[in-house]
Amino acid sequence: MKKVLILGAGIYQVPLIQTAKKMGIYTIVASIPGNYPGFELADKVYFENTTDYGKILAIARREKIDGIITTGTDVAVITIGRVCDTLGLPGLSFQAASIATDKLKMKTCYEENGVRTARFRRISFDDEDYARQISDLAFPLMFKSVDSSGSRGIVKVNSPAEFDDARNVVLENTRSNYFVVEEFIEGEEFGAQAFVRGGEIQFILPHGDYIFKGDTGVPVGHFAPYALSPERLEDTKEQLQRAIRAMGLDNCAINADFIMKDGKTYVLEIGGRSGATCLAELVSIYYGYNYYEKILKTALGEPVDFRAGDGTPADRCAGTPNASMLLMSDRDGVIRAQENNNPEDPDIVDVQFDYQPGDTVRKFHVGPHRIGHVITRGATLDEAVEKLHQALDNIRITVE
Ligand SMILES: Nc1ncnc2c1ncn2[C@@H]1O[C@H](COP(=O)(O)OP(=O)(O)O)[C@@H](O)[C@H]1O
Ligand SMILES: [Mg+2]
Repeated sequence: MKKVLILGAGIYQVPLIQTAKKMGIYTIVASIPGNYPGFELADKVYFENTTDYGKILAIARREKIDGIITTGTDVAVITIGRVCDTLGLPGLSFQAASIATDKLKMKTCYEENGVRTARFRRISFDDEDYARQISDLAFPLMFKSVDSSGSRGIVKVNSPAEFDDARNVVLENTRSNYFVVEEFIEGEEFGAQAFVRGGEIQFILPHGDYIFKGDTGVPVGHFAPYALSPERLEDTKEQLQRAIRAMGLDNCAINADFIMKDGKTYVLEIGGRSGATCLAELVSIYYGYNYYEKILKTALGEPVDFRAGDGTPADRCAGTPNASMLLMSDRDGVIRAQENNNPEDPDIVDVQFDYQPGDTVRKFHVGPHRIGHVITRGATLDEAVEKLHQALDNIRITVE
């Protein structure tokens, strides 16, 4: 029996754990303790911090694992890279992981390799005079923590009067002693899921993003296919391929965030793992297979077929249109009631509540404040989106 070590026990690792179990893989889960749904699904649990390389390596050695993997989070990616390097396991390298989990390293890598990205500066937290360093960047600006995710520590800044407050928000959301300031790109945000194995890109699936506009953008839903003209699609693929090569990403899923401005694709960031917010599900539904299975097989060094479920090569697959949206609360409070009044419908693929009545939830502000999700599909994208709205209308969550 093969053994996999899954880092993280949260909502975005649950389907990975479930799939591993279904595939007959011995599933070990490591995560900090907490009320995480993945613990009870695993064959074995270690309550350790997934960023603690020494502890995770010791577990990997003791358990003689065949692979180590996560989905939907960047937090553990660096540990995965290090453990893979040390033990010679299949997966991304420490070098690639270090670039993919530090927005400064990533942007520097893009700049050096001709990947289109917003103009930026590195700022030290101990630099009192940092305003001068960014005086040649055009407003609005984004102040960014280099090592957080889910839009935490990402602040849009419209004038110098906002600098210090923004810097403090970043400081609260980082372990680093520097941050990034970059120009805000006014345009349409979208993304792509992709996979690279053996140095070859196996598929690129662009997707539309639904963005919650708070203090900054927060992706709260997605849809595929995402219509791009042939020129724009070519440019997107070109930027993505260049970025993947420059970052040295291999043997991993790819989660890419882009902004389209004046017909040109700007790379916001690229992660060496599959996306959160129902993005692995988007891939699965679109291609007609279980994407988690492909991710696990790659992590275990087994052969993987990335053709669509019906055997069509990924780049020629028509794909099943689908759409998703997070459930959110408009206030801090306690869930009093939650009802899903949707009829059984094969096009409503999933309605998930993350919490139970009585649980405390937060007013939605960043990704981790989600309280559930809905995923739909349809014969056309319009039908999938229409179904999504219908399904959302039939869900009642009362928070007081
Ligand atoms: N340069 C930018 N221009 C416009 N919007 C941006 C820019 N950088 C970030 N954003 C917005 O902030 C969100 C989060 O930023 P991102 O760099 O992707 O960090 P995270 O790791 O938290 O996802 C993006 O999804 C986007 O909505
Ligand atoms: Mg992002």
